[in-house]
Amino acid sequence: MNTIQNIKGTQDILPLDTKKWQNLETIVRKICSRFGYEEIRTPIIEQTRLFSRSVGEDTDIVTKEMYTWEDRDGTSLTLRPELTASVARSFIQHNLGAQSPIQRLFYMGPLFRRERPQKGRQRQFHQFGVEAFGSENPEQDAEIIAIAWHILSECGLSDIATLNLNSIGCLNCRKEYRKALKEYLSPHLQQLSETSQKRFEINPLRILDTKSENEQRILKDAPLISNFFTAKDQEHFNSVQDLLNTLNIPFTINEKLVRGLDYYSSTVFEFTSSVIGSQDALLGGGRYDNLVKALGGKQMPGIGFAAGMERFLLAMSEQAFESSIDIYFINLDHEAISTVFTLTDKLRKNGYSVLTDTLRRSMKSQLRDANRSGAKYAIILGDTELSTGTIIIKNLNDGIQETIQQNDLINKMQSLTN
Ligand code: HAM
Repeated sequence: MNTIQNIKGTQDILPLDTKKWQNLETIVRKICSRFGYEEIRTPIIEQTRLFSRSVGEDTDIVTKEMYTWEDRDGTSLTLRPELTASVARSFIQHNLGAQSPIQRLFYMGPLFRRERPQKGRQRQFHQFGVEAFGSENPEQDAEIIAIAWHILSECGLSDIATLNLNSIGCLNCRKEYRKALKEYLSPHLQQLSETSQKRFEINPLRILDTKSENEQRILKDAPLISNFFTAKDQEHFNSVQDLLNTLNIPFTINEKLVRGLDYYSSTVFEFTSSVIGSQDALLGGGRYDNLVKALGGKQMPGIGFAAGMERFLLAMSEQAFESSIDIYFINLDHEAISTVFTLTDKLRKNGYSVLTDTLRRSMKSQLRDANRSGAKYAIILGDTELSTGTIIIKNLNDGIQETIQQNDLINKMQSLTN
């Protein structure tokens, strides 16, 4: 019989890797709390219409990538393909706007998109992200981008990440720009791919982020959205840039950056890195000043970003991690198990991470295991030690060892580790 395998595009995260995940999660929590952001957890399943109304009926995510099914009562349900819509739904449903004029939220968790799996692209993947509801001012944009920058820096990635920044203006600006772009593209329509021809009708701005070289050539002289900014759009975008300069966060203006979700307006951004391969977006985000209203809430500005955790870990993969084990307890006498349990229990209650052997292996193989575990110290209890109430502490880095009274174990460990 064939053994059962995991589903294509999903992955098991095994113990060697969970350490790396926990490290990233700790950094995210630390930086978010430095900025006063609080965690929100929303369900993994939502009503399908939440995503079609926010992400957009005609986006890749909604048309091709969602895991959607009809529930027993006939409701259409979907495994969340992103989290901004879920967080906005929760914000409206629980009237979070009434609790405070500004809500600063962060999240982490799995998402699902039925894309073609490749390096850095999975069907179940994980994001961390932040969303701030309530402020339409540029300082909010700068704060959100600063969080991304702090997390990247803390992960050792700020040198290899490039911030691409753009503004796609307000609704009016986009309406005028859409007209101009369509006018420019219509003589080239036959040369565009089938996808772009469809986008030409529904959402021509999406053609700007095409990967096709031919289409990029056609777009070289296309009108720029910045020429259609209202005075308010321009002023907002200038202020965001000024604040990023104040914070010494380097950025590149990329007028072709439009992002693939419909809810964006004004500021949009992505941090990319070539070190992770062709799926180079480490994180992406932007303003969504009309989203809450579109989902049935009040007019409420918002901005946020989400980052692919697998992609962060790919970029961080060269970094070494210290073992979390402090002590490996080597026991050579089966009669001594209750002494071992008493001592290890004391050590753990005093905050030490301790591994013990439960396979009754030889000294040699327990020592080998101790070295493999990355423990800093081995504690050895043999026949002699058992009969004299002593114990050996061996520093596994320099090999130096000493014999002490069992009663002194905690004091000794504390003096060694402080
Ligand atoms: P997104 O650009 O669709 O935006 O996804 C954000 C990040 O998730 C990407 O930059 C990438 O790192 C990661 N990602 C996306 N798809 C996959 C995949 N199939 N496999 C692995 N990683 C992936 C959003 O999701 C928006 N909700 C971001 C946002 C928050 N905008 C405002 N607030």
